[in-house]
Amino acid sequence: MIPCSMFATVALVVAFLIQTAAARKNLILDTDIFSDCDDAAALLLAATSPDVKLLAVNVNSHSTYSALATSAILAHYDHAHTPVGARRPLTNDTFFDAKDFELGEFASKVARHWSGGTLPWGTAEKAWDPITLYRRTLAASEDGSVSIVSLGFLDNLAGLLDSTADDYSDLSGPDLISAKVSELVVMGGGYPSGYEFNFFADDPSTTAHVINDWPGRMVFSGFELGQSVMSGDRFVAEGPPGDPVRAAYIYHSYGAPHPSWDPITVLYAIRGLSDTFEYGNRRGYNHVEPDGTNAWVDDANVRNQHWLRLKLGNDTVGAELDRLYLEAAWVADNPLVQAEMSWRSHRPIFPKAEL
Ligand SMILES: *[C@@H]1O[C@H](CO)[C@@H](O)[C@H](O)[C@H]1NC(C)=O
Ligand SMILES: *[C@@H]1O[C@H](CO)[C@@H](O)[C@H](O)[C@H]1NC(C)=O
Repeated sequence: MIPCSMFATVALVVAFLIQTAAARKNLILDTDIFSDCDDAAALLLAATSPDVKLLAVNVNSHSTYSALATSAILAHYDHAHTPVGARRPLTNDTFFDAKDFELGEFASKVARHWSGGTLPWGTAEKAWDPITLYRRTLAASEDGSVSIVSLGFLDNLAGLLDSTADDYSDLSGPDLISAKVSELVVMGGGYPSGYEFNFFADDPSTTAHVINDWPGRMVFSGFELGQSVMSGDRFVAEGPPGDPVRAAYIYHSYGAPHPSWDPITVLYAIRGLSDTFEYGNRRGYNHVEPDGTNAWVDDANVRNQHWLRLKLGNDTVGAELDRLYLEAAWVADNPLVQAEMSWRSHRPIFPKAEL
C-alpha cells in the first residue's frame, strides 16, 4: 500500500463526509443496555452510520455499568464526546439470567475493559440527568429536526413529556417535543396487539402515559419484527478481536445468532422505510393499558402513527445488519487501512488472516 495514495483517499473521504454532513439525520438514543447485547449493536449502528448525527444517548436502566458501557462503546467508535445521560438512582446491579440461566452479563465487562468517553470507569455519577440532557439537546436543535429512538423503558421520555421551562427552553415538555421532534421511534409492544417486555417490565403506567399522550408522530417496532431477524453470529466469527460490541455478543450469547429488536429499530430510524420496511397500517393509533398491554385502535382521523413490517426476508435483513457491524468495526479497528480498502473495492474487506 502506498502511503500517499492512502492520504489522498482519506482526504477524499473527509471531503465527502463534510459535504454530506448537512444531510445527516439527528438522532437521540434512549437505551436499556443491560440484559441484552442488541442494545450494543444499536449503539454501534447509530455511532457509525454516515447518515447520522448522534446528538446524545440516554440510558434508561439504573446500573452504573449501563452508563459506563454506553460511554465506552461511544468512545471506541469515535464518539468520545457524545453526552450520556443516566437514569437515577444509580445502582451497581449486574445482569443475571434468572429466567433461562443461559445468557451472560456484558455491561460491566465492556465498561471496564473499553473504558473511555465522557464517563470512564468509576464516573457514572457524572452522567447527565436524562431529562436535562433531552431539554438541552432539543433546545439547541433546529425545529422538527430530531428523531428520538426508544430502545427500552420509557421513564426518561415520561420525564421529558412532564418537564417544564428551564434554563434551556421556556417551552413545556409537550411544546418542546412538538417544536423539535420529527419522529419518536419505539421498540416495544406487539402489533397489532401484544404484551411485551419494554412496555410492562419497568413501570407500565409510565409506558401508557408516554405512548398515549405523546404529541407527535410515532413509529413502532414490535417484538415480532426483531424476533425473527437474527444477527451477531457472523460479526463474532469475522469481526476484529478488539471490538467492544463483538465482545458484548460473546459475553452475552456466546456468538450464537441473536434476535435484532434494537438494531432493526435503529436501521429504520436511519433509513426510513427504504426497501426494507413497510407500514403495517394506514391509520389509527397505539393504545397502552396501565398493565403494559398494547393494542391498535382503528381511527380514520389519526395518520401519524404506524407499526413496521419487513418488506425483505428475515435472513436478508439479518445479513445486512452483520455486514454493517463488520464494516463499522473494521473501520474503527484501523481507520486508514479500512478507508483505503473500502474505497478501492466499494466493499468491506475482512482480513481474516490477521485474526
Ligand atoms: C458502586 O461501586 C463503586 C465502587 O465499588 C462504589 O464507589 C459506589 O459507591 C457504588 N455505588 C452504589 C450506588 O452502590
Ligand atoms: C420472518 O419470520 C417470521 C417468523 O418465522 C415469519 O412469520 C415472517 O413471515 C418472516 N418475514 C419475512 C419477510 O420473511
